[in-house]
Amino acid sequence: MSRLITILNGPNLNLLGKRQPHIYGYDTLETVENNCRTLCRDDFEVEFLQSNHEGQLVDWIHRARETSCGIGINAGAYTHTSVAILDALNAFEGPVIEIHISNVHKRESFRHHSYISLRADGAIVGFGIEGYEAAVRRIMTVVEAQK
Ligand code: DQA
Repeated sequence: MSRLITILNGPNLNLLGKRQPHIYGYDTLETVENNCRTLCRDDFEVEFLQSNHEGQLVDWIHRARETSCGIGINAGAYTHTSVAILDALNAFEGPVIEIHISNVHKRESFRHHSYISLRADGAIVGFGIEGYEAAVRRIMTVVEAQK
């Protein structure tokens, strides 16, 4: 069975560390990626991807059907709008963990609804960038339990 964990990042997350640091902090996406890689045990590996384009995220989820054992996804603003990403995730069979750096429930009401949550097996919100590590840990635990 695959041991590749796909971590997907949606729009504007390439600006992490520079964009609204009072909300998202000063760490960059590169730091998040390194933290996730460091955490991998046994023969688990992480592929860490970011796109500002909805269709690209859908394509990567389709690819993950063939290559990956689990998906961690911070879809950014597409969380609140994208039925296409939800449909793609519904076609993926492994664990899906939703990640948000900020506590979306404490913010504007349009951030309170998540299409991703209709598919996600778990969600981590408001833990800052540590949420990514929690997602990787959870996916490893779930995949190992399936052995
Ligand atoms: C976010 C929350 C979203 O509402 C927002 O559009 C983002 C980032 C988060 O990580 O807190 O881009 O997903």
